[in-house]
Amino acid sequence: MSIEAEIARRKTFAIISHPDAGKTTLTEKFLLFGGQIQTAGAVKSNKIKKTAASDFMEIEKQRGISVATSVMTFEYKGKLVNILDTPGHKDFAEDTYRTLTAVDSVILVIDCVKGVEEQTERLMEVCRMRATPVIVFINKLDRDGKDPFDLLDELEGKLNIQVHPMSWPINMGRDFKGVYLLENGSLNLFESSKTKVSDDYVRLSDLNDPRLDEKVGEKDALKLREDAELIEGVYGKLNKADYLSAEVAPVFFGSALNNFGIQELLDTFIELAPIPQSRATTSRLVAPDEKKFTGFIFKIHANLDPKHRDRIAFLRVCSGKFERNKPYEHVRLDKQVRFANPYTFLAQSKEVVDDAYPGDVVGLYDTGNFKIGDTLTEGEEMMFKGIPSFSPEIFKELINLDPMKSKQLEKGIQQLTDEGLASLFTQEPGSRKFVGTVGELQFEVLQYRLEHEYGAKCRFEPRNMHKACWMSGEELVVKEFMKFRMNNIAWDKDGLPVFLAETGYILRMAQENNPKIEFHTNSEFKAGVSA
Ligand code: G4P
Repeated sequence: MSIEAEIARRKTFAIISHPDAGKTTLTEKFLLFGGQIQTAGAVKSNKIKKTAASDFMEIEKQRGISVATSVMTFEYKGKLVNILDTPGHKDFAEDTYRTLTAVDSVILVIDCVKGVEEQTERLMEVCRMRATPVIVFINKLDRDGKDPFDLLDELEGKLNIQVHPMSWPINMGRDFKGVYLLENGSLNLFESSKTKVSDDYVRLSDLNDPRLDEKVGEKDALKLREDAELIEGVYGKLNKADYLSAEVAPVFFGSALNNFGIQELLDTFIELAPIPQSRATTSRLVAPDEKKFTGFIFKIHANLDPKHRDRIAFLRVCSGKFERNKPYEHVRLDKQVRFANPYTFLAQSKEVVDDAYPGDVVGLYDTGNFKIGDTLTEGEEMMFKGIPSFSPEIFKELINLDPMKSKQLEKGIQQLTDEGLASLFTQEPGSRKFVGTVGELQFEVLQYRLEHEYGAKCRFEPRNMHKACWMSGEELVVKEFMKFRMNNIAWDKDGLPVFLAETGYILRMAQENNPKIEFHTNSEFKAGVSA
């Protein structure tokens, strides 16, 4: 198959949601449709979930949360679908943000009872920043949720995107009767079933078809006719270009647990979702169908085997063909690297691959050569842009509890923060280390892993800080400010200075008093990507 044909059949995306909205369940159902899971019973008993393909780490098993990001690949209707899984826990949100840099589109899952939740808003902000096309799946229709029109309003109001209903529910909760597919005028009648793979649709000639009254009853048929008329008037027909430019999000209703509404979601996704797209680098835009291979690391994974230090770096192929054993340029280190055992992922198993194409994610064994954002090419000097660091929300100072193990602690904290588990800011002189995260849990994970993988004992002491801000402006002015605020300046992992503002007020004052300096709460500006 030609490279063009390989690209044209690939769809790489992530399912995102607030924890508990149903991301894992939906992922499982997709795998079921894709034939990756053979028996629906496995889904019903939730075995897949508990031993899901994302549980690489022991700590993850212990906590029963998805700390890691993994990849699942399946074929559906002639397309090759790569789902990049994202951690469900909010403390690992930054992991999710980074995964979003490696996808071409997302499916957002909303719980119809809860509506748009806080984490969803933040995830969508990242999607909006990158203009990633979004399809929304409103889940748990078997429960009494919010009014569907209110849900649409809430989506538009809170997520700053226009919505376009593709299906429409007939009641919810105990009275839930099914959904009407607005685009093709068919009825998908609800049947609580955890085993059914394929949905049978009732094709209606139009909404006046008497079979509608027959199937859902006169009262609900009337309501549906009214709703559909209103929707038609407000939303009209979906314009695919508006979806692809991330201005409009198609919305589906269903129940992942009951395997309901998944087929139309998946079918529409396969038809509409973008194939691998061009990506910006420091020097130019790279098109996927270019002959030469390029790719970047968006995620570094913990040791599969805690006794060994090797890690897995996740590479997104951006252009050309990635080949096993072929030497590639590691641009940041200006060094040739080759991979004897790169692998791809198929649900729970992984397989060594000889080649991979744009949109694919390849797992590379890494002995410490990679950082998040590293670029591989066939020799060209450039870096992929737009893999942001965000200001952490919780800051703690790393205190060494065993001076005999200082080296191990130093190495451990460097490597673990290279993985993107937390941000590390070092103060000079004195080498005080501040670790920043978005959640408390990461400190526990860090402490556990430093002890079990590196034999280093430490403690984290809370520090009162509000934000870490990267600075831009005239060099002399920034330097002067740094001299003046020496006690609040530290260096990030890339050697860039940040201002550690203790409170929001202090940050505002710094801004007011230094109008020539811009303070940024994410590092995206340095990659040249504007928000
Ligand atoms: P997440 O990955 O987004 O965190 O959500 P997950 O799929 O784990 O789903 C969270 C809970 O919601 C699970 O129940 C799951 O069974 C349930 N759920 C998912 N889809 C639906 C749906 O369509 N209808 C209803 N009623 N529930 C749904 P749990 O009790 O937390 O877990 P489990 O004991 O079922 O594994």
